[in-house]
Amino acid sequence: MNNFQDYLAEYQQSISDPEKFWASQADNFVWKKKWDSVLQWDFHKPEVKWFIGGKLNITENCIDRHLPQRANQTAILWESNDPKEPSRNITYQQLHEQVCKVGNMLKAQGVKKGDRVCIYMPMVPETSFAILGCARIGAVHSVVFAGFSAGSLADRINDSGCKVVLTSDGTFRGDKSINLKAIVDEALDKSPTVEKCIVLERTKAKISMKPARDLWWHDEMQKVNNQCPAEEMDAEDLLFILYTSGSTGKPKGMVHTCGGYMVYTDYTFKQVFQYKEGQVYWCTADVGWITGHSYILYGPLSNGATSLMFEGVPSWPDMGRFWHVIEKHKVNIFYTAPTAIRSLEKAPLSFVEKYDLSSLQILGTVGEPINEEAWHWYDHNIGKGKCPIVDTWWQTETGGVMISPLAGITKTKPSFATLPMPGVQPAVMDESGNEMMGNGIEGRLTIKFPWPSIARTIYGDHQRFKDTYFSTFPGKYFTGDGCKRDEEGYYRITGRVDDIIIVSGHNMGTAEVESAIDEHSAVCESAVVGFPHDIKGQGIYAFVVTYDPIHEENHLRNEIKDVVAKIIGPIAKPDKIQFVSGLPKTRSGKIMRRILRKVAEGDTSNLGDTTTLLDPAVVEEIKAGAL
Ligand code: WTA
Repeated sequence: MNNFQDYLAEYQQSISDPEKFWASQADNFVWKKKWDSVLQWDFHKPEVKWFIGGKLNITENCIDRHLPQRANQTAILWESNDPKEPSRNITYQQLHEQVCKVGNMLKAQGVKKGDRVCIYMPMVPETSFAILGCARIGAVHSVVFAGFSAGSLADRINDSGCKVVLTSDGTFRGDKSINLKAIVDEALDKSPTVEKCIVLERTKAKISMKPARDLWWHDEMQKVNNQCPAEEMDAEDLLFILYTSGSTGKPKGMVHTCGGYMVYTDYTFKQVFQYKEGQVYWCTADVGWITGHSYILYGPLSNGATSLMFEGVPSWPDMGRFWHVIEKHKVNIFYTAPTAIRSLEKAPLSFVEKYDLSSLQILGTVGEPINEEAWHWYDHNIGKGKCPIVDTWWQTETGGVMISPLAGITKTKPSFATLPMPGVQPAVMDESGNEMMGNGIEGRLTIKFPWPSIARTIYGDHQRFKDTYFSTFPGKYFTGDGCKRDEEGYYRITGRVDDIIIVSGHNMGTAEVESAIDEHSAVCESAVVGFPHDIKGQGIYAFVVTYDPIHEENHLRNEIKDVVAKIIGPIAKPDKIQFVSGLPKTRSGKIMRRILRKVAEGDTSNLGDTTTLLDPAVVEEIKAGAL
């Protein structure tokens, strides 16, 4: 697509004949066997299958097919946490060799097609080799963000019954280094399915290696050769599992399959960023999140792009690090999160002005709504008013970008994700479940037709998949987000309408945080809501009821934060903890979160109807003690 007319035409084709449209996209790939039929679906069951009967391996499409033209082109350009450590250029040829070796290393440990492999690793090229190495042999990767605690890691390993864990001695984050192996050791005490743990040396931290279970990456990689045939996968075989927080209960292992995910991530990368041959592309996400899977690895590599992978943080050694990296590697396309933009916006402009950002052509954001102020700052100071900004709305569950401008093609509007990608059919619903027609409306965002990379199920719990996404509005996929569709038909995502809060772009289930807080022996019960936070977008506000009167409030606050960090990970620590004598509950015992949200937002002028509460007096106390 080269202009807006093309977009309109392509969108129209994709809606009037989706099967023909996606088949023509799928024709651009290497298939070991062509599909028999394009689509089979029923959102009531729910069931979705794309490219039925097709056989492929995604790594052949991301690596092998590029070798004739790009063996020596950089596939992965790696920048260390430490600006003094040399960067690394992994060419497509080298990527091929390393991925094959990892495949062989896993096979040597008995890993077979369909086995689950957990990857708990830092942002280094070897992590990409690990992910793609699994895909090479048909093992299902389950990447767990290396900021999660031992308990969270063990839950994820156990939920999918992983056989092998790939990790490293440690990881660098700014001036800190974290001993990942110690966290894995603790998790593996509770993970009986894990037979082997392969450890990459990164920080040279002192770690302990358990005989028979633990192996060094460098030893094992030496024993294998660099030729590994790509396993033939069915289009609907599992490619990976990736956990995301649920509004109740434990995290959900979202299942993505090979064929549809490949086609959709390739297509959306190409179209959204209008990627052109030779450009250097940088997505700042961690590979532990869906953005890293789809738009550091699979989408860019499938397009033969050069994808920059950054180990560090935006604030170290100083607040100019991102801009330094852009100058150093002449980055053309830069894709980051609103929370990063907001935190960098707070730093003096001199951190930006020191660097030559003239290589930039396209900017992107993902993960949460971007406020207008941050959008303008990004546009003006980073894009210098000449780089289109693509505000991409999508989810772990959707696999790829769903609503977004196409860079340079779709007219942008600050804080609007704008228009659906071809193949995406949004429907805005009112609270009684009717589709709202026309423009100038606000409601709940659903999608009424399948696209190739929709998650197929929740690993081991199809009923929960149905209940969470297909039951609120029968026959439609419910996103959990609210949205507006303005007079022009542009979509603006207004945020979650369920009990998920998005903290610095990370999904946190309030129930999960509450159950962690409740682990503290002094805590009787708690309720967690989000509140607007300057930098994080949303912060975590916890209302906590203790068994006994408290003497040292701040001491207890710190203890509670530590418990949460231990159980879930530091990203889930509450920003504010208010001690209360009781929670506002309905007569049936349901916590009235609406009221708590208002208090947390600092807006107590109109709390709505509180007469149905069991104890209305508690509301006055909560208002008076608001932080
Ligand atoms: C939110 C991240 C507004 C949304 C790819 C969604 C956004 C959740 C945007 C998914 C955006 C993501 N504008 N909100 N451009 N992008 N979100 O699974 O609430 O980590 O449901 O996937 O992030 O988060 P997840």
